[in-house]
Amino acid sequence: MRHLLSTDGLDAASATAVLDTADTLKRTLLGREVKKLPTLRGRTVVTLFYENSTRTRVSFEVAGKWMSADVINVSASSSSVGKGESLRDTALTLAAAGADCVIVRHPASGAAHRLAGWLAEAATQVVNAGDGTHEHPTQALLDAATLRERLGELAGRRIGIVGDLLHSRVARSNVHLLRALGAEVVLVAPPTLVPTGIDGWGARVTHDLDAELPGLDAVMLLRVQAERMHGGFFPSAREYSIGYGLNEARSARLPEHAVVLHPGPMLRGMEIAGTVADSDRAAITQQVGNGVHVRMAVLYHLLAGEEIAA
Ligand code: CP
Repeated sequence: MRHLLSTDGLDAASATAVLDTADTLKRTLLGREVKKLPTLRGRTVVTLFYENSTRTRVSFEVAGKWMSADVINVSASSSSVGKGESLRDTALTLAAAGADCVIVRHPASGAAHRLAGWLAEAATQVVNAGDGTHEHPTQALLDAATLRERLGELAGRRIGIVGDLLHSRVARSNVHLLRALGAEVVLVAPPTLVPTGIDGWGARVTHDLDAELPGLDAVMLLRVQAERMHGGFFPSAREYSIGYGLNEARSARLPEHAVVLHPGPMLRGMEIAGTVADSDRAAITQQVGNGVHVRMAVLYHLLAGEEIAA
């Protein structure tokens, strides 16, 4: 396929190819003062963000620039979107202006797929940088890259994904990818933050974090997405912290080798204690660093002719 919209259907061989490329790029650039490869010279990459972002937008920009692509950042607030232009017209405009790849983040689930459909006749490729509560495939790939660095091969590992499953695109993308790579996934959340249809995700669901901790190789915390909870925050921040916050006592119940991940931005003191977030067990800044190399690998596979089969 010519776009990366989802990890659903991304098989182990294709995902491993991207992760291996990211690993090679990381090792190639390690210690270099000038991080610049000529691979995507003459190619134009546009980031089109309708939602806030720090990690994803910046790391895609760095990834493109380190591969010598021309990178143009478009945000909804500073573009003609603010004058009422539709997503379809915006996409067609970017394609007509010469974009080889559009990296899109949008609050509507399915927006990246729609955009790819509208660009079917154009040469422009699409990467989903997060669509509503649906998917965030490059986040899952960078999480897998980080877990591979910390744990080795993921087959047979047990990964707990903890928190706001109801609004999380990170969780869904990770479940697809981790299962494809042979890991077992346990989903942990308060009953009010579990989406309907979760039985079809192929992962065990539980509300009891404390019971799971000793058996986990990694715990991936999710951000509680208050901005999507229009009916109010439930459970309260205090209740959430008591039941699901990764405090020092809970961290101590994990096996010694277990890794803590968080896609960010994290709510310290509620989702995770500051001391745990800053501990050696946490791989949170490592995730961000790997995000650059994984996004370089994705751009390489899409734009330099190496297809990702999904
Ligand atoms: N993890 C993630 O998507 O972070 P940003 O919202 O900062 O891009």
